[in-house]
Amino acid sequence: MTMELLKTIKRLQQVLSRDRNSGLTIGFVPTMGALHQGHLSLVERAGQENDRTVVSIFVNPNQFNDPNDLKNYPRTLEADLKLLSTLPCDYVFSPDADEIYPYPDTRKFDFGSLETVMEGHFRPGHFNGVAQVVSRLFEIVGPDKAYFGLKDFQQYAIIRKMVAMLRLPIAVFGCDTVREADGLAMSSRNALLSKDHRAVAPQIYCILQEAQKEARIFSPEEVKRHVTEKINSIGLLRVEYFEIADELTLKSVNSWEEKGTKVGCIAVFAGSVRLIDNIVFDK
Ligand code: PAJ
Repeated sequence: MTMELLKTIKRLQQVLSRDRNSGLTIGFVPTMGALHQGHLSLVERAGQENDRTVVSIFVNPNQFNDPNDLKNYPRTLEADLKLLSTLPCDYVFSPDADEIYPYPDTRKFDFGSLETVMEGHFRPGHFNGVAQVVSRLFEIVGPDKAYFGLKDFQQYAIIRKMVAMLRLPIAVFGCDTVREADGLAMSSRNALLSKDHRAVAPQIYCILQEAQKEARIFSPEEVKRHVTEKINSIGLLRVEYFEIADELTLKSVNSWEEKGTKVGCIAVFAGSVRLIDNIVFDK
């Protein structure tokens, strides 16, 4: 099947209702474009697990708490379409903002403690904007399955909660982080890094891996301090937060003896570019 680009809800829903009436299943990968191998891995997986795959490309203004970040966010639709055309992607939905938000979206979601920590704390309103757009896209696409990257670990937790809260009949899957050969987590924002910042950015994941080993010897508090000190001492990187949190509740972990899987989540400024990453502590 050749890939189709659709700009309007009406057109997308025409093709999707035809597919659904033929009994085909629909997989969905929401993105903001500037696609890289991380996004593409989600599309590959959706293609394997569904009869039809929809990828949305929409830079959602409602989730940017920093106007400069929104302005500088890379937009590369032509290149994105080229990449997607080599994959099992059937429909690319690339709407204008009026199509998604014909009226201002004033909905307020309550994700409790999931949204007051880490990204939620440092980017107020961000997850509310993510929930607004993803719930809207879910309503438009009506997928059977939707795919998200574990690189945005807190976002994945928020989306699962939103699907449960809205009782949507959509199965949500989290997919492993895809990295550059030097370990840097792939991100659309990597394209904005200066040469010097790009050179030191892989240190973030190296230091997270060291933290995984340190967890055998040091307390969570000590590991947090070591990671922060090591990254800040590089000079070009500044840690905004490094938190070790329970995988499900995202509450801060005080002792390795606590039940459940623990994830170390970090946000680092490399100049003006903000990078996030995480690592599972599988002790
Ligand atoms: P965006 O940053 O474009 O990411 C789209 C999807 O790709 C997200 O689920 C994200 O977690 C995943 N992803 C990004 N980098 C990845 C990597 N290195 N490995 C694996 N997956 C990766 O996340 C968003 O857009 C938006 O918030 C969105 C959900 C589209 C709502 O606007």
